[in-house]
Amino acid sequence: MNNATASAGTGLSTIAVVGAGSVGATYAYAALINGVARRVVLYDVNGAKVRAEALDLAHGIEYMPMGSVDGSDEVGICAGADLVVVTAGAKQRPGQSRMELAERTVGLMRTLLPDLVEVAPDAIYLMVTNPVDVVTYAAQQISGLPARRVLGSGTVLDSSRLRYLVAGACGVAVRNVHAYVLGEHGDSEVPIWSSATIGGVPVREFSELGATVRDGIAREVVESAYRIIEGKGATNYAIGLAATRISQAILRGEGAVLPVSSRLRDYRGISDVCLSVPSVVDRTGVARQLEIPLDAAEVAALQASAASVRATARRCGF
Ligand code: LAC
Repeated sequence: MNNATASAGTGLSTIAVVGAGSVGATYAYAALINGVARRVVLYDVNGAKVRAEALDLAHGIEYMPMGSVDGSDEVGICAGADLVVVTAGAKQRPGQSRMELAERTVGLMRTLLPDLVEVAPDAIYLMVTNPVDVVTYAAQQISGLPARRVLGSGTVLDSSRLRYLVAGACGVAVRNVHAYVLGEHGDSEVPIWSSATIGGVPVREFSELGATVRDGIAREVVESAYRIIEGKGATNYAIGLAATRISQAILRGEGAVLPVSSRLRDYRGISDVCLSVPSVVDRTGVARQLEIPLDAAEVAALQASAASVRATARRCGF
């Protein structure tokens, strides 16, 4: 095990980051500078890379709220983690959809998860690897852990993209936009305009947000990742921050309502699939899912999204 450890602070939690690629490293950095956990460990089969990432992070600990960092190519470094964040997987190539990664990524999970659960049986598992909804469902099935303890980053990022674009269109602060994207984190995702508000005012009362603008914003949210991947080869900052937000809700026991991906059972008639719906996230994982009011078109779109994700999961043997 690498000794790139510079211990500091006496916090409570340990996060194990699986995968030291751009998403995993960025997430680890964001979690540390936000003081989400006292200890962050990184695990990756590429020993040189993971030890270098851990060392580079450890050298900045003086400037972090508190923390210690380790990196290793041995899964044992994840032992006893409170939260395991899985970012390892194939990278989306330009123009490639997230669902096209499914078979290969699920195959990786079949190997990875039993080893992780053996060393961290009591952890909450946050899946970030794409296609995240299929991967979350597979992770639940493979690990045998209670469904609430295996969740996915889902459409937390898509919702923040939507809020960013709505805020820009109306000249308001992003944090005053309350709107969700639900369903698949991917091409079939669903913007929920019927309950979207700005400062408590329904978005449909904003002349800047006519139907054409709303449709354009929804399209831009779906295309965002493709556009960024075309330009820089991957996305990492916003997903790292979104996963950090989810981690805060878990480790601080916030009970925050976030559109994370989790197992649905008769949610608007949808079952046996992982999909993003507004969920209460706390120290137990997904404590409950909230039945948000939806109009008929949104219900139909959510059910279509579920069908798309379930078809890919079936293709992967689940
Ligand atoms: C994105 C990746 C995380 O949407 O799927 O940026």
